[in-house]
Amino acid sequence: MALTSARALFVIAAILGVSLQANAQLSTAFYASKCPNATNKAFEVVKSWIVKDRSMAPALLRLHFHDCFVRGCDASVLLDSTVANSGEKDAGGNKNSLRGFEIIDDVKAKLEAMCPGTVSCADILALAARDSMLVFGGLNYTVPLGRRDGVSSFAWEANNNLPPPFADFNMLMSLFSAKGLTTKDMVVLSGAHTVGFSRCSTLQQRLYNFSSTSSTDPSIDPSFVPILKSKCKFGSTGIIMMDQSKTTDTWDFNYFSNVLKGRVLFQSDDAIKRTAEGLKLVQAENKAGGPFTADFGASMLKMGNIQVLTGTSGQIRKNCRVVNK
Ligand code: HEM
Ligand SMILES: *[C@@H]1O[C@H](CO)[C@@H](O)[C@H](O)[C@H]1NC(C)=O
Ligand SMILES: *[C@@H]1O[C@H](CO)[C@@H](O)[C@H](O)[C@H]1NC(C)=O
Ligand SMILES: *[C@@H]1O[C@H](CO)[C@@H](O)[C@H](O)[C@H]1NC(C)=O
Repeated sequence: MALTSARALFVIAAILGVSLQANAQLSTAFYASKCPNATNKAFEVVKSWIVKDRSMAPALLRLHFHDCFVRGCDASVLLDSTVANSGEKDAGGNKNSLRGFEIIDDVKAKLEAMCPGTVSCADILALAARDSMLVFGGLNYTVPLGRRDGVSSFAWEANNNLPPPFADFNMLMSLFSAKGLTTKDMVVLSGAHTVGFSRCSTLQQRLYNFSSTSSTDPSIDPSFVPILKSKCKFGSTGIIMMDQSKTTDTWDFNYFSNVLKGRVLFQSDDAIKRTAEGLKLVQAENKAGGPFTADFGASMLKMGNIQVLTGTSGQIRKNCRVVNK
């Protein structure tokens, strides 16, 4: 009897096998017996940094995104280049732009002291993104664990996989769908640009050298152009807040109303409304008490699953910046 039902279960599992394997490897309980207090410790360390400087929370959110889009969520973004400028860190979209590596190092050092060789850098990135934004305020979502760390990092892969700020709708969709993400994921995840900062250098072309017929991108709300130009003067090396509709950085759905008004920093932000499907999604997210925060959490869960290494693949790095010897 017991044997028969076990066999029946096996048959059912075999039939379901493919779909079970697709995302069954990660689990919120992954460290429960291996390192019972790992997630509490990670939260405590991340919190100590965000309490000192909350602007690091958006930076950590972005770090996880840039990890997952380049050979999956495997902490490849954390590896220092072994040959000058060879690694992801030194790719155009990352160099002098990604922030927060010292926070990840701190979490890693404390978890290594507690449970040597146990908690992956890839999981630390996923936890730090969520925990930092939880302390920042307004965002929370579930983070399944069990990712392992990769052993390679290539600048050219980052250049090919990370969306550039001048991307149009088609380019965004080809990059997101290559990661198994939908148009809705793309629109919703772009909403991360409701927090954080950009370098003015990133806006130079859109503001001052757009095309041969128009020095400034005509898709920007004309009344917004002087505001952007005063905050980011020609040649400026300063920084500018992503969401110009507020003075204090908070988690909210403002981004989507900014998109509809043409008051966003990047062409990619403007682009998400440039198809009928995209526009409908932007309008749906632009609602008080609306779906944005929950939708964002659901899309982060999918993003955090991209090409993860599990089981015996990869390794648990001892130092997030270097592959184990
Ligand atoms: C849709 C395509 C996307 C493009 C083209 C894009 C592009 C950019 C660029 C150019 C910057 C400013 C970089 C700089 O000047 O240093 C930036 C910042 C940022 N991005 Fe994105 N991004 C995209 C999607 C995302 C996603 C999916 C997330 C997170 C889930 C994200 C989170 C952020 C955050 C939080 C910042 C501010 C970082 C900080 O304050 O340090 N972005 N992004
Ligand atoms: C678990 O971690 C929390 C936060 O760091 C700490 O307050 C608590 O004492 C730890 N518990 C154990 C059993 O180590
Ligand atoms: C965050 O979300 C998780 C999972 O839904 C939940 O268990 C936890 O209590 C939430 N934390 C806070 C501070 O809201
Ligand atoms: C870029 O724009 C600035 C200011 O509008 C102008 O002085 C400069 O000549 C432009 N450069 C190019 C390469 O068009």
